[in-house]
Amino acid sequence: MPPSSSFILHPSSLANAPALIERLLPVQKLSAEAYKEQMSNQGKTLTALGSYWKGRKPLILNKACILGCLLPATDNPKRDLEIFEKLMAMDDESFVARWPRRAKPREILATLSIARIADYFVSDPPLLLPPSAPVDWSKPELAGVKVRWRDDVSELERRQLEVQMLPPTPYRQRVEAAKRPEEVMDMVHVHIWEAVNTHLGTDAHSFPELVEQLGLMRFGHRPRIGDTFCGSGQIPFEAARLGCDVYASDLNPVACMLTWGAFHIVGGSPDSRVELECQQRQLIEQVQAEIDKLGVETDGHGWRTKAFLYCVEVRCPQTGWMVPLIPSLIISRGKMAIAELVPDEKRKRYDISVRTGVSQDDVERAAKGTVRTDGRGQDPYLFHAVDGVEYRTKISTLRGDFRDKESGNGNKLRQWEKSDFKPRPEDIFQERLYAIHWMRAKPGKKTFDYEFRAVTEADLKREQTVENFVSQHLADWQAKGWLPDMRIEPGYNTDQPIRERGWTHWHQLFNSRQLLVNGLFNRYSTTAALKLGVNQAANWNSKLSQWHSSPGVDAVNHTFYNQALNTFLNYGTRSSHYLSKQVEMDCKSFSLLQIATSVRCSSAESLEEKCDVFVTDPPYGDAVNYDEILEFFIAWLRKNPPAEFADWVWDSRRSLAIKGDGEDFRRGMVAAYQRMTECMPDNGIQVIMFTHQSGSLWADMANIVWASGLQVTAAWYVVTETESAMREGSYVKGTVLLVLRKRSGMHKTTRDDLAWEIQEEVEKQIRDLTGLNQEAKGLYRDENVFEDADIQMAGYAAALRVLTRYLIIDGRDMTAEAIRPRVKGETTFVDGLIAFAVDTANQCLVPQGIPERHWKEFTGAERFYLKLLDLEAKGLKTLDNYQNFAKAFKVRDFRALMGSQRANEARLRSAVEFGKDEMSEGSELHQSVLRAVLYSMMELAKNVDSNDVLAHLILNVPDYYSNQTQRERVVELADYLAKKLETLRPDEASAARVLREMVKNQRLG
Ligand SMILES: C[S@@+](CC[C@H](N)C(=O)[O-])C[C@H]1O[C@@H](n2cnc3c(N)ncnc32)[C@H](O)[C@@H]1O
Repeated sequence: MPPSSSFILHPSSLANAPALIERLLPVQKLSAEAYKEQMSNQGKTLTALGSYWKGRKPLILNKACILGCLLPATDNPKRDLEIFEKLMAMDDESFVARWPRRAKPREILATLSIARIADYFVSDPPLLLPPSAPVDWSKPELAGVKVRWRDDVSELERRQLEVQMLPPTPYRQRVEAAKRPEEVMDMVHVHIWEAVNTHLGTDAHSFPELVEQLGLMRFGHRPRIGDTFCGSGQIPFEAARLGCDVYASDLNPVACMLTWGAFHIVGGSPDSRVELECQQRQLIEQVQAEIDKLGVETDGHGWRTKAFLYCVEVRCPQTGWMVPLIPSLIISRGKMAIAELVPDEKRKRYDISVRTGVSQDDVERAAKGTVRTDGRGQDPYLFHAVDGVEYRTKISTLRGDFRDKESGNGNKLRQWEKSDFKPRPEDIFQERLYAIHWMRAKPGKKTFDYEFRAVTEADLKREQTVENFVSQHLADWQAKGWLPDMRIEPGYNTDQPIRERGWTHWHQLFNSRQLLVNGLFNRYSTTAALKLGVNQAANWNSKLSQWHSSPGVDAVNHTFYNQALNTFLNYGTRSSHYLSKQVEMDCKSFSLLQIATSVRCSSAESLEEKCDVFVTDPPYGDAVNYDEILEFFIAWLRKNPPAEFADWVWDSRRSLAIKGDGEDFRRGMVAAYQRMTECMPDNGIQVIMFTHQSGSLWADMANIVWASGLQVTAAWYVVTETESAMREGSYVKGTVLLVLRKRSGMHKTTRDDLAWEIQEEVEKQIRDLTGLNQEAKGLYRDENVFEDADIQMAGYAAALRVLTRYLIIDGRDMTAEAIRPRVKGETTFVDGLIAFAVDTANQCLVPQGIPERHWKEFTGAERFYLKLLDLEAKGLKTLDNYQNFAKAFKVRDFRALMGSQRANEARLRSAVEFGKDEMSEGSELHQSVLRAVLYSMMELAKNVDSNDVLAHLILNVPDYYSNQTQRERVVELADYLAKKLETLRPDEASAARVLREMVKNQRLG
């Protein structure tokens, strides 16, 4: 809808306005939304393009960052927050549209109190309804009455009424039950535009209109968002979906391809999608026709293969028998199908039969195959029995592992040559097909019958046909680029297949069938969009694809179920039919209209494009070696990329990839961010995301920011953990968002002045956010906009904001200081400043009930315990709080202070649980007043005589008599603990009260 004729927009009127994200961000709600998206796995919008990509940043988080940069922070923060939440579909009325089902008028009338029903509804026949609701529909005279909304009731009014039908649960639970905003994108926002336009002075009825107008007001044109570490394209896609122009780049061509796919496939026009589906159908038919010509996936009796199960086979050095290495002989728990080894004494080998519908006992017995271990972390070994005698040989022994002083670790596996695509007869590890999953269409139906069968002579003949084909065509297909011929360069992840199998080239990670089928898909994928399916084929059909035998699964898993290149002793292989499901990529569709998007394959430091805003997620302390693992795909595509990708460098350029956390990392990051700063206007904004949080995060960032000519304006922490991380129990992931502007001027200061300034800024920041918490009470029911950890993070940001404003501190040029090479273990000037800033921020976060003057004197571990107890008393129990505060208070090992470290049920150790622990010299609580108080509480809880308790306390508190404040502290701490423990642990609370009175009333002298 074009802006109305009376609307006047003032270009650049917001040019110097602070951005909303520099003042506020509803991080708690955002965490709930980001978590919901992360948990939706295959339901994620872009995942179907490449499920192998690890570390996708949630779209909802990206949306918040981009909007947060474009929206202004006005002098009405509460209204800013309200409007922002409407735009994020986090407001109550949006939840009506996000709810799985909307309430019907009859249900509304049965439930709500409505003074005049006629204000909202019309009924048929009229006049039978009572004038007000709730209505008792059980009355016989109302049986046939129909009700519907009045036509003149606006959508906003309807939603305002319907909101009252939603359960009044906390936000997190509400989000769990609701759809994600993008799932109802076409209608979720219809009610917001009037309020948005009134607040912002815009005239928009959609995101592209709003974004265009905000861009004009801030930058004089539609905003252009850049991401030079674009990865799978999550940030660029969201920017484009909002209506921004977008520049995306990445060093890695596979990342560029996924980003291209996000724009042109998921974001493609409806016509282009129809065209793609047509191309995909054609491709699948072409591959199928070739396979059928070879006759290698059918048995001639109406059955087609679905999947093949292969295993490694070795000669047992003790018995001379050839033994298949199959860790579990269960083939399907659902079908109760197992493989059985049938000894062939004569040939000293095993036949493998397949039995289906066996007993539960048989299945459990089959769980123990020929590869076993004696517990986690123990070496696996080959296990088999001949004539009742059991033989065990470690897999490492079979491989011939050795340790050599000169050449390091090694083994006796032959290193495969480029022409090898299967083991040679003399190789230690042979490969063997041991079962086949067959399928046949049910007569007249679209469903199939399935069965597992043992391998027959006819199957082996078909295997031979496949091998012969590959053998004849390998060199030619490699030359044409249909099959990989690239060497596996050694590296952290790539060493694994080399070491464990002797594979030296990427095509050796695929068996003959996989080479044939994947190669055919590659050959006939002639367009850019189809090439994305080739990567899917490689991912879902390699020797690193595990067979899943769980009930109802019976499937071949994908290679990148994690971010390593793990080899398996048995694995699955997909038939062409089964693989085509993955090649088809069942993608969602969000047409991106009239948006200028570009994708370039280049290093971030060679950026040449101007952008108004950069939102980036750099590889900070990255656990994923993108450069190494993506070579798995580069190998398939590098020789004949389609025209769209032909300019890209089809090499992972490992040496240019930014990774780790050392000197090279810092240099790479500075070069990248310096360049981005140069490429943005003076009023440009940047958001940098970090998922990793090492203790040195703040110092690292301050250095990079300084050296790049930027300054921090805000920082936020959003929890983006996944269920798998939660299941691991003690590891919760969060993302830090750092907001930055160009540093202006050449300001100088001294450390002494800084101290004051930091203190003031941190205090102001904390005041502002706690103030907003209060103001938004109505909007947030009983929840907080910001929890303590968020306020603490904002406190750090305030400190960084002050620090990074200056170019010269104590006569030192901070840009030079930031890039100065480090000696290992050295604490630099910057480290010192950051530690000081963080300390200052912590000082300002005194828990209620502790006098500020004492807070400053507590050790980090004491502050940690006291602060976290305060949060526990408020009902917070997520482990990441503990992790974050431990870092903040510099507690070396906070785990020693924990009673539970479960992700969502974390808590501190109680006095009784501590018992006599953590008293000795190595402990961070050693000789602390808090430890002495907890000890006394433990004794009191165990009914130790009070005189003894007091005597022990006097011994445990250093300078008890000589330093009056020590006693004061005991009283204060006991009082504090009593209050905080009242509902958590009433017994200990009572012990704390007794202790407080004992010490207060103690006669001295
Ligand atoms: C953490 S990932 C980005 C993930 C992305 N935000 C997503 O949601 O999928 C970091 C990316 O930086 C890229 N990268 C590493 N070094 C680079 C460099 N020097 N220049 C450009 N990109 C680089 C990697 O290839 C990787 O794709």
